[in-house]
Formats: sequence, structure tokens, C-alpha cells
Amino acid sequence: MQTKIEKIDSSSAFAIKIIESYDIHDLDFLSFREKLAYANISHLEKRQEWASSRLAIAAALKELQIPYPGFFKDEHGKSQSMSGNGFVSLTHTQGFAAAIYHREIPVGIDMDFIREKILRIGFRFLDESELSFLEKDPIHYTMAWSAKESIFKCQGKKGISFRDNILLEPFDLNAKVIKGKIRGTDFADHHYQVRSIVENNTVLTYTIW
Ligand SMILES: CC(C)(COP(=O)(O)OP(=O)(O)OC[C@H]1O[C@@H](n2cnc3c(N)ncnc32)[C@H](O)[C@@H]1OP(=O)(O)O)[C@@H](O)C(=O)NCCC(=O)NCCS
Repeated sequence: MQTKIEKIDSSSAFAIKIIESYDIHDLDFLSFREKLAYANISHLEKRQEWASSRLAIAAALKELQIPYPGFFKDEHGKSQSMSGNGFVSLTHTQGFAAAIYHREIPVGIDMDFIREKILRIGFRFLDESELSFLEKDPIHYTMAWSAKESIFKCQGKKGISFRDNILLEPFDLNAKVIKGKIRGTDFADHHYQVRSIVENNTVLTYTIW
């Protein structure tokens, strides 16, 4: 399985995997609880995505020389470390899985394919001010969507509306960093910065600090 691993700094790393077939023994590192979760996924492609994202976490942790602690999902669906140390976020889509880990700070990561149809659903996830600065370009819209996904996953709680509660500052199509904040909730005006990487037909974003 092809993997791209990037150490961001001494506390953090991310890994992207191209999903290919793998040997079941490649998953021996998973905790008992994770093995059960894996076995309960009936759809083959979903099982491969799930496994590949855990292999991506394992690769990021190896880069940082941190033993794999095992992760469980909290009541919001966010993965939490079973050791109580560190923060993780993951994403998987057709053909790709990615994960980011940070020793001290909550993180969020997201990866999306760029598709024309996103232009038609902009009104569902974008505020008026965002609709006015974004070009009618699927790349620009996907960057905005993915940045909001990463911010959502970083904060981790359900019940946040992308349109009403996550507001992005104006950014252009070549932006490497997107700034945004969560507003109108218990986490009002919590500020975030998101790294954006556009490559081929995908957008990858992850929160930075
Ligand atoms: C939960 C959500 C973040 C998943 O995103 P997705 O694009 O479907 O899928 P991704 O592959 O990028 O991410 C999936 C991973 O997100 C993580 N995740 C799920 N809920 C999460 C949460 N509350 N916080 C952080 N991470 C979460 C999980 O690790 C999941 O992977 P897993 O099931 O293998 O453990 C997505 O359903 C979402 O955006 N919910 C917000 C609802 C919303 O407001 N939508 C937009 C309205 S306009």
C-alpha cells in the first residue's frame, strides 16, 4: 500500500494512503475493540477505508515514534486515544484514507474529490459573505467545504451547522492557509487555521496551530 507520510513538527504528523488490498496481519496492531469494530463492517469497500485510515494513523504515529494506543469513538463520533494521550483525526473516501496526529492539540483532517456538483449545493453550507467572495469554481468551493469539515472535526461536537456556525475569512484559489471561526455556539468565536493542499482532483485540508 502506497503511503505518503509527513512530519509537520516534533509533535505532529499526517499520513495519506492509497487504498489497496492488504494482508489481514497488517492489522495485528489494532486493539481488541478496534478489531471488533472492523469485523462488524459488512461492506467490503467501507471496511477497506476504515482499515486504511487506521493504517494511516499507525504510519503517522510511527513517524513520531509513538506506540499505537488504540482509539475509540466518543458519543460524537470522534476518535479518542485509549491511553488518554494525544489527538487524532481521520478521513477516508473512495481510494484514499488519511490521518493526522498531534501530541497536545486537537486536530482535524479532511480529503475530498473536486466535483462540479458542489457548485449547486453551496447555499447549504456557505454563508452569504462566503458566497460573495468565492469564485464559481468547484476547486474554490471544495476548499471551503473541506476547510469547514476539518474545523468541524477539530472541535468534534455534533450540532454545528457548516453554514451558520463555521465562518471562513476570504481566501483565494491559491491559498495555502484558510482562516475560520466557530460562532454562535458554546464555542463562540473560537479561531482556526487550516492548511489547504490542492492536488490533481482532490483537496486535502488539516487544522494547524
Ligand atoms: C461526521 C462527518 C464529519 C464525517 O465526514 P465525512 O466527509 O462523511 O467522512 P470522512 O471520511 O471525511 O470522515 C470520517 C471520519 O470522521 C470522524 N468523525 C466522525 N464524527 C466526528 C466528530 N463529531 N468529530 C470529529 N471527527 C468525527 C470519524 O473518525 C470518521 O471516520 P470513522 O467512521 O472511520 O471513524 C460528517 O458527517 C459531517 O460533516 N458532519 C457534520 C454535519 C453537518 O453539519 N454537515 C453539513 C451540513 S451543511
